[in-house]
Amino acid sequence: FSVENIRNFSIIAHVDHGKSTLADRLLELTGTIDKTKNNKQVLDKLQVERERGITVKAQTASLFYNCEGKQYLLNLIDTPGHVDFSYEVSRSLSACQGVLLVVDANEGIQAQTVANFFLAFEAQLSIIPVINKVDLKNADPERVEKQIEKVFDIPSDECIKISAKLGTNVERVLQAVIKRIPPPKVHRKNPLKALVFDSTFDQYRGVIANVALFDGVVSKGDKIVSAHTKKTYEVNEVGVLNPNEQPTHKLYAGQVGYLIAGMKDVTEAQIGDTLYLHKQPVEPLPGFKSAKPMVFAGMYPIDQSEYNNLKSAVEKLTINDSSVTVHRDSSLALGAGWRLGFLGLLHMEVFNQRLEQEYNASVILTTPTVPYKAVLSSAKLIKEYREKEITIINPAQFPDKSKVTEYLEPVVLGTIITPDEYTGKVMMLCQARRAVQKNMMYIDQNRVMLKYLFPLNEIVVDFYDSLKSLSSGYASFDYEDAGYQTAELVKMDILLNGNPVEELVTIVHNVKAYRKNVLAKCYGGDITRKMKLLKRQAEGKKKLRKIGNIEVPKDAFIKVLRTQ
Ligand code: GTP
Repeated sequence: FSVENIRNFSIIAHVDHGKSTLADRLLELTGTIDKTKNNKQVLDKLQVERERGITVKAQTASLFYNCEGKQYLLNLIDTPGHVDFSYEVSRSLSACQGVLLVVDANEGIQAQTVANFFLAFEAQLSIIPVINKVDLKNADPERVEKQIEKVFDIPSDECIKISAKLGTNVERVLQAVIKRIPPPKVHRKNPLKALVFDSTFDQYRGVIANVALFDGVVSKGDKIVSAHTKKTYEVNEVGVLNPNEQPTHKLYAGQVGYLIAGMKDVTEAQIGDTLYLHKQPVEPLPGFKSAKPMVFAGMYPIDQSEYNNLKSAVEKLTINDSSVTVHRDSSLALGAGWRLGFLGLLHMEVFNQRLEQEYNASVILTTPTVPYKAVLSSAKLIKEYREKEITIINPAQFPDKSKVTEYLEPVVLGTIITPDEYTGKVMMLCQARRAVQKNMMYIDQNRVMLKYLFPLNEIVVDFYDSLKSLSSGYASFDYEDAGYQTAELVKMDILLNGNPVEELVTIVHNVKAYRKNVLAKCYGGDITRKMKLLKRQAEGKKKLRKIGNIEVPKDAFIKVLRTQ
């Protein structure tokens, strides 16, 4: 394929607006998959994705399409829809020149539509608005057109109105991809420059890296280097995704495909890395950063005899997901375990669910916390900790105020879109979570878009559920990382008969906030009474942890620490 006949694009959408359904139709229309089969979300391969109807790992497919007598190669790069994976979204987008921005004709623009639009806009991609589900009884595509014009400044005549479910107008989408999205700007004669935008692990073949070639050519037998790790590998196989792997002799600049090169785990092929040929180094593509975990939780086997099984399950899962960080940890009550870092709460839930479904492992997850920072106050301490600013991922290791000049907490910029009748309640909720309003705008006659700066800690546990319930499910929420801010933090010990219980330590934003939030959301009542109750219930159980002169059954810890 000459570069002029290649298009690389992605579909972005708010959850449930029909991204996977549209992808299925595109695959069918181009003959990539058989129409007669009941194709439902072919690209969503993981069981959790199918169950939850969300896309977790990005998948990719190459489609062949004939338009006005010319054969085109259309690379559809699927992106995860959820905010937790926004780094993966932006990496996948950097392999594209355009996007289909899918908006539900009934629900209209939602928070994730806005977040995803800006990721594409900042990457300077061509954006094709697609209004989906026009077959629905309550569909109001004209209203959505106006929203798109107001919020994104895209003329309404650029919108394509479709029903992905019925296939209506889907052909027009393919034509728009060819007409409105430019071919990739690449140089096949230059040395190889390939972006890794996703990677998966296969038990038998090792890491399969999904790559987009910006320059050059890569073939089997080539020696390649990772710009991030500087390790050298020999390429064993290259190919395209149809959507299953199909080996080819070479991959050329402008193409998207996969590459296998004896990498042993996905940390060797991190998303955003650049690959080049040995002895022909190139300027790496900009913006590589390792995935940054924002939510940490302790994980322990329910029964210590399960430790080794769980360990191997965690190892297998993290081999496929380099964004999970793993540190060994232990607790007197719960035994040996780990402190794991996740991109967000959904990511944590998905990980937990995969452990249970794919490895049959049952675990205790402790209440999630965010990575706080502390600026140390003396040269001696800086020497001891080996840095001036330390990150605290385990509340039990929170340094005392006497050692610290300043504490910092992570903040995020949140976008909320809600019908205006709920605006008052939404604002009250945000204030109660220490959020600072940054912006407010009507996106049509009765829908409001609000922007708030939130301390991450305040939204990590139950913010989304509260928002959904106070708005009868109509408000949507998304957020992006906004750095750190100074915070008045204290460590809250929970005493049992006068003795602190290490497993229950939490960091709170001062005593007032603790009364209002932490206790209410985590334990829903008086802790000692609950502990006593649990103790009574669990009488007869053997595993007891002695705190001072009180013996607390392990079960009680499990119940108190469980987040759901
Ligand atoms: P995530 O993977 O979670 O981001 O969702 P998605 O955007 O991929 O949505 P998906 O394709 O799973 O569709 C969500 C729901 O909307 C499913 O129940 C689809 O059957 C339904 N749906 C998708 N397109 C249409 C359409 O054109 N009309 C109607 N009536 N329903 C549709």
